[in-house]
Amino acid sequence: MDKVNDKGENVNELLEAHAHVWNHMFSFIRSMSLKCAIDLGIPDIIQNHGNPITVSELVAVLPTLNPAKACDIYRLMRILVHSGFFAPRKLHNDAQEVGYVLTDASRLLLKNNPLSVTPFLKVILDPIFMMPSQLMGTWFQNHDSTPFVTANGKTMYAHCGHDPSVNNLFNEGMASDARLITSVLMDKCKGAFEGLESLVDVGGGTGTLAKAIAHAFPHLDCTVLDLPHVVHGLQGSQLEICWRQHWIFHNWNDEECVTILKRCKEAISKVGGKVIIVDMVVMDEEKVNDENSKTFETQLFMDIHMMAMLTGRERREEEWAKLFSAAGFTNYNIIPILGLRSLIEVYP
Ligand SMILES: C[S@@+](CC[C@H](N)C(=O)[O-])C[C@H]1O[C@@H](n2cnc3c(N)ncnc32)[C@H](O)[C@@H]1O
Repeated sequence: MDKVNDKGENVNELLEAHAHVWNHMFSFIRSMSLKCAIDLGIPDIIQNHGNPITVSELVAVLPTLNPAKACDIYRLMRILVHSGFFAPRKLHNDAQEVGYVLTDASRLLLKNNPLSVTPFLKVILDPIFMMPSQLMGTWFQNHDSTPFVTANGKTMYAHCGHDPSVNNLFNEGMASDARLITSVLMDKCKGAFEGLESLVDVGGGTGTLAKAIAHAFPHLDCTVLDLPHVVHGLQGSQLEICWRQHWIFHNWNDEECVTILKRCKEAISKVGGKVIIVDMVVMDEEKVNDENSKTFETQLFMDIHMMAMLTGRERREEEWAKLFSAAGFTNYNIIPILGLRSLIEVYP
């Protein structure tokens, strides 16, 4: 039976609420522990080891580890096992000792995995990109356009243009994400690009997706449109029929999105075509259940991340529909084949 304390509070509920607050308060430890494992190269070391690796074997091959801290590696591994990045395996020779193996999630962090998400993780968890979220409370009370401006004195893209190392970090992170999305797109939805004569990838970064499409459809003229500091030195071709927007609308507010969409419509109306968008369609809250609540939460994380970085947001289907209609488009088709994100085709 639940006990009530002398203030009339149910003690179990009090402790549960306390644990809930602590779990949220310390949630950053999950991302920081993951970052630490990547900084130390642990996923690649486990991969190269071949067999399950024990803590003592791991400690022995960590190249720059201070031996005085070797005993703490177990603690890092334990939380990352709990988070699903490594899995323990009992070793044949000693039932007590365990070795660690990779999981599907940590295989995605390997340097030699062509679909590695590590460059993207390095952007998100870099202090430059993390500081704005510390200042969201300040931003709600000041006149800055974004918490990023409050933290760094410039907009995010101006900062990238100003600092070549941040620019490289950001572009490499975006390109790694594009590699993963491109591989799924080419696998599941190649048909969306079938029959096109040309394509402009608006905000196409360093051209990862445009290059893959050009490779898969050699007759297709592909152009990457991006900021000068991003496309500097890239090669592309000209012409426009299909305007493809890879994950950029979430960077912009509604007014800015309508302006971009109107420009796309203007361009395609000369020749016929469609706009293809890769972006999130935030789930309806009523449809959230135990199975999909992690996906919903990740979409909400991204929405707040957009608020911290830029003037953008993640949108529900009704919000997308309003933008399309405000820009003069008559029809759209959402294809939910990209996990957290969807492919959206928009027609004039
Ligand atoms: C979320 S990233 C998308 C990255 C890209 N799809 C890729 O494959 O790497 C958004 C992109 O929009 C670009 N961008 C920002 N402002 C822009 C502008 N005014 N005109 C064109 N591109 C812009 C950024 O430089 C960035 O590369």
